[in-house]
Amino acid sequence: MILGLLGTAEAPRTQNAFTRLEALFADDMSAVNALIIERMHSPVGMIPDLAAHLVSAGGKRLRPLITLASARLAGYEGTAHIKLAATVEFIHSATLLHDDIVDHSTMRRGKPTANTLWGNSASVLVGDFLFARAFSLMVETGHLRVLGILAGASSIIAEGEVRQLAAIANLDLDVKEYMQIIEAKTAELFASAAQVSAVIAGLDDTGEQALARYGRELGLAFQLVDDALDYSGSEAKLGKAVGDDFREGKVTMPVAKAYASADAEEKTFWTDAFAKKQRSDADMAHALRLIDKHDTIKATLSQAREHAHNAQSALQIFDDCETRKALCDLCDFVVERVF
Ligand code: IPE
Ligand code: IPE
Ligand code: MG
Ligand code: MG
Repeated sequence: MILGLLGTAEAPRTQNAFTRLEALFADDMSAVNALIIERMHSPVGMIPDLAAHLVSAGGKRLRPLITLASARLAGYEGTAHIKLAATVEFIHSATLLHDDIVDHSTMRRGKPTANTLWGNSASVLVGDFLFARAFSLMVETGHLRVLGILAGASSIIAEGEVRQLAAIANLDLDVKEYMQIIEAKTAELFASAAQVSAVIAGLDDTGEQALARYGRELGLAFQLVDDALDYSGSEAKLGKAVGDDFREGKVTMPVAKAYASADAEEKTFWTDAFAKKQRSDADMAHALRLIDKHDTIKATLSQAREHAHNAQSALQIFDDCETRKALCDLCDFVVERVF
């Protein structure tokens, strides 16, 4: 913990809320995990080896949890939600394999990244394989609208990643543009994860849009917190390296806000640092001091809290029940998480 702003006394309560949510959907999630393992199979040995490296390292399984919980909230009684939850986690896994190459990341889920162990080429290709498997799985559900939603989300995620790449080192990135990037690269999949369950349950448009909004707002909150944790979190808890965004020259909310409030001398520091090919540990230490001085982690987290609150509001059209409560508690977990 660098700035000591996270991991407050609130954390255990929300971690318990996350554990409760996991427990509530443990049976469904076991089925999802079994399906994931089954569909990772390929006679080409490197594919299951590399995929299993990522998949068996765990991960929070947040997105499939959202699909499972949304299906229950929507009153769905069939079995297609299992396939859709696995689809969503496959899409997520594929984007992680690709993202870690783009971001030159060396640690994911507490282990060396696949690109570090197998190289970029293998990671790209296995990522493609996982994407393709995701599509096969969702086709099996036979819901054309669901295919449209998840296919659309996949292209929007890619657009978000490309937009972010194009915005590297752009300190003038305004809040609107940053929010558009994180909405595309992260919130779109959260939105789709919830929305597809509304579709298979046959909810009306109001119900479908409410669940989509829940996912989108939660996804925005999630990425804002993730961007705060990249400066303030603990590597051991997150299972990935902190400081990657600064090292990569990625301008996220904590830096954009610090730059917007910077005096002339500070602006020079930021401009010089982001103009360099590589930023040193001393640059990082100074960046952290300025982020601390302008309190931009707190500002980022408070923005995340607003989106988490919007997500909770979106669910108010549903009857009060254990599942709605669990989905609302998930919003608190997302803004207070330390992992
Ligand atoms: C990581 O997502 C990618 C982001 C959108 C920040 P998660 O933090 O949900 O990753 P896992 O699945 O738990 O490892
Ligand atoms: C991840 O974004 C978003 C996608 C995988 C599409 P980041 O690059 O910010 O997330 P981490 O820090 O690698 O998990
Ligand atoms: Mg990354
Ligand atoms: Mg990235």
